[in-house]
Amino acid sequence: MTEQKKRTVFSGVQPTGNIHLGNYLGAFRNWVALQDDPNIEPIYCIVDLHGMTNPYDPKDFEAARLETAKVLLAIGIDPDRSLFYMQSQVPHHPELAWILGTVTPMGVLNRMTQFKDKTERGVPANLGLFSYPVLMAADILLLRADLVPVGDDQRQHIEMTRDLAERFNNRFGEVFPVPDSLVPETSARVMSLTDPTTKMSKSDPNPKSRIDVLDSPDEVRKKIMSAVTDSEPTVRFDRAQKPGISNLLEIMSACTGRSIDDLAMEYADGGYGVFKEAVAEAVIAELAPIRSIYQNLDDADVARILQRGALDARTKAEGYQQEVRDAVGLHRQ
Ligand code: AMP
Ligand code: TRP
Repeated sequence: MTEQKKRTVFSGVQPTGNIHLGNYLGAFRNWVALQDDPNIEPIYCIVDLHGMTNPYDPKDFEAARLETAKVLLAIGIDPDRSLFYMQSQVPHHPELAWILGTVTPMGVLNRMTQFKDKTERGVPANLGLFSYPVLMAADILLLRADLVPVGDDQRQHIEMTRDLAERFNNRFGEVFPVPDSLVPETSARVMSLTDPTTKMSKSDPNPKSRIDVLDSPDEVRKKIMSAVTDSEPTVRFDRAQKPGISNLLEIMSACTGRSIDDLAMEYADGGYGVFKEAVAEAVIAELAPIRSIYQNLDDADVARILQRGALDARTKAEGYQQEVRDAVGLHRQ
């Protein structure tokens, strides 16, 4: 009997700010579900080196790294089924980024939209931010990922990763599989509650624009009840005319598993107040287990989990990286 080759899944998250409902529905819930697939080998990484491209205070950063690990564990990342570690603990990541940088044309980096978006928002335009996508490509290629589950906003980065894998393989021989992105069909783009034409984001200065996964039921209720909608009283799905209501329908559908049509039918004429209350209760029910697991996690256990993950990742990375070093003419000596 021939055994089917397992596919390696890799994804990463920056330890910057709180994890919100958009992260959860667009990405992390998918990460957790992938652990149940026997043909998948999942690898999840807290990309703290990427996090350093945002302005930050080292003391807060330390806390944010641990906090992100705790939230991911609370959401359901299981270190017995996933390789789970902190990027900075595996120096093969930045080493591979350097090597990939030598096959990355400036023109390719100049076309990446994130650098422009972030610098326009005031993030300092340093080399780390400019070469961010190369480090991301290194993350994905280091342990030879086949699939990368991410939200819609990361598509351009995955395209660039594919491009770099092909450039490298053409120049140095077939070393890297060319990875595919895995973007969820629904809730790939959860929108802001205060401006439903922009995506929910941790960089939005207004905390009412997003629901954090650790928000209390009261906070969730307040934020959803005050979510910006339109003045026509019917609940129906229409992204262009009714972005606020459509966003809430999508959120409720993602939290309950019910279809948007079904929800729109039930709440069509009951008024926005009744609908919003139902959305709030659905979100509260979805987030309740996360909050309770989070509150019971012990920091020392989390640190031990991360240390074990880093050790396993370094061992794996060392084997793979030797193949790269050999290919580019950096033999052991
Ligand atoms: P970030 O918050 O940019 O570190 O993103 C972490 C993950 O969450 C990435 O896979 C993003 O694509 C995803 N993500 C971020 N914001 C949203 C959103 N508003 N809707 C859906 N997915 C999102
Ligand atoms: N750029 C991703 C984000 O902001 C984070 C990231 C870094 C990542 N390296 C990665 C995501 C590798 C997937 C795979 O969300």
